[in-house]
Amino acid sequence: MAKHLVAGDRLYSLAEALRLDGRETLNLYKADLNPGLAQMLGLLRFDRNYVRAQGVSVWDDQGQEYLDFLGGYGSLNFGHHPPRIQEALKEVMEAGRPVILQATLSALTAAAAHNVASLCPGRLQRVFFGNSGAEAVEGALKLARAYTGRPGFIHCRGSFHGKTFGALSVTGRDKYQRPFQPLLEHVQAVDFGDLQQLEQALQGRQAAAFIVEPIQGEGGVHEAPPGYLAGALDLCHHYGALLVVDEVQTGFGRTGTILAVEHDGVVPDILCLAKSLGGGMVPVGAFVTTPEIWDQAYGGWEKALLHTSTFGGNAMAMAAVIAATQELVQEGLADQAREKGQWFKARLLDLQKRHRLIREVRGRGLLLGVEFNQPEGWLARVGGQALQNLAQEYTGALVAGQLLERHHIITAYTLNNPNVIRLEPPLVVTQAQMQAVVDALDAVLQEAKGFAGLGLATARTMLKGLLHA
Ligand SMILES: Cc1ncc(COP(=O)(O)O)c(C=O)c1O
Repeated sequence: MAKHLVAGDRLYSLAEALRLDGRETLNLYKADLNPGLAQMLGLLRFDRNYVRAQGVSVWDDQGQEYLDFLGGYGSLNFGHHPPRIQEALKEVMEAGRPVILQATLSALTAAAAHNVASLCPGRLQRVFFGNSGAEAVEGALKLARAYTGRPGFIHCRGSFHGKTFGALSVTGRDKYQRPFQPLLEHVQAVDFGDLQQLEQALQGRQAAAFIVEPIQGEGGVHEAPPGYLAGALDLCHHYGALLVVDEVQTGFGRTGTILAVEHDGVVPDILCLAKSLGGGMVPVGAFVTTPEIWDQAYGGWEKALLHTSTFGGNAMAMAAVIAATQELVQEGLADQAREKGQWFKARLLDLQKRHRLIREVRGRGLLLGVEFNQPEGWLARVGGQALQNLAQEYTGALVAGQLLERHHIITAYTLNNPNVIRLEPPLVVTQAQMQAVVDALDAVLQEAKGFAGLGLATARTMLKGLLHA
């Protein structure tokens, strides 16, 4: 019998859910979601109960304001609750438009596809809408196979393309792949930036596509070397493969141009988008390709339904895409990201000169990463082996923990490289907000005085987390 029919169990109303406090939420996570995640976030005191958000700020249930420099991993280029996207969603609801209605054509999907195609360079024209970055990547991989008739894929070490089976197969991190083996066959990894290795991998003429990010986001914010994407495109075409560029994180103005490929003057065969495509309000993913590739793979009515997605192109998502594409262009958000990013990066480079804990500052536009030096052996003597291990792999996480705990600034480490914190605020961020983060980072590194201090500060936070849990 369903649990809610058993005496004593009941279903929450939305009003009740909106009133849940942090402890109740934590307990529900432990019971019904992911207890390990709840425990981890609880220990680092990342389990705050955020109840309101606007622009770059969020507020917890104590009325405390935080600056969000994580920006939904690149999903919040327009900030929290961007008014124009909200109005678009309201308009669709008030108009009573069907939100989900298949077996028909939708004016909103058509207009959204036109807008997305208009932002893409060259002959990238045909758009397929799904619901996430991983789904966009899955679609791109399938399209490449269907078009070329080849089985293989080449990807980069350190890449991140998502966690569904196909996307995970081309994601270059062993930790995420290992428990799920065997993944897709005929997949080969090459070093990011190395055209010679790419050519060797392509020479067998088994690869349908090479998939690559213009800047490896989760890999620790690494820019492609100049000329790499253009060289990769030439090599792919020479050996009969397609170039898939994953702009799920770099797209939509983030790196200072609407798409990061513009910086390199490259038009890939397939482009993947997601994250801010939905204006930070609705999950949307998409891949875009040329008419030739689309038509060969999915042209004609017999093949028109080979690749589909129930929620892809729904009216709420499409209203968000239409408003987001317009907002991006009319507000000049890419230019804003470029100018603000230059200012912010210069301040972070100044910090690097003063703190030996900072190894490198990288990135473009407002996709910036700060890499920390790894601790030396003496930390084990000062703080114990567990702390040594933690700091060795997770210095970025320790810094992110202190930025949150002491300065109310939300950041996170990059998924494939926990020694790097990413700074990826909404593109509407102000200079004063960026300065606040620079000052906070300065203070954390100053107080930490090396890893021992940072580790001990984190240990204190963890202790508080334990008492709080
Ligand atoms: C470059 C890139 N591709 C794909 C993905 C997967 O997107 P999603 O989490 O929406 O599936 C991500 C997520 O971080 C990403 O950064």
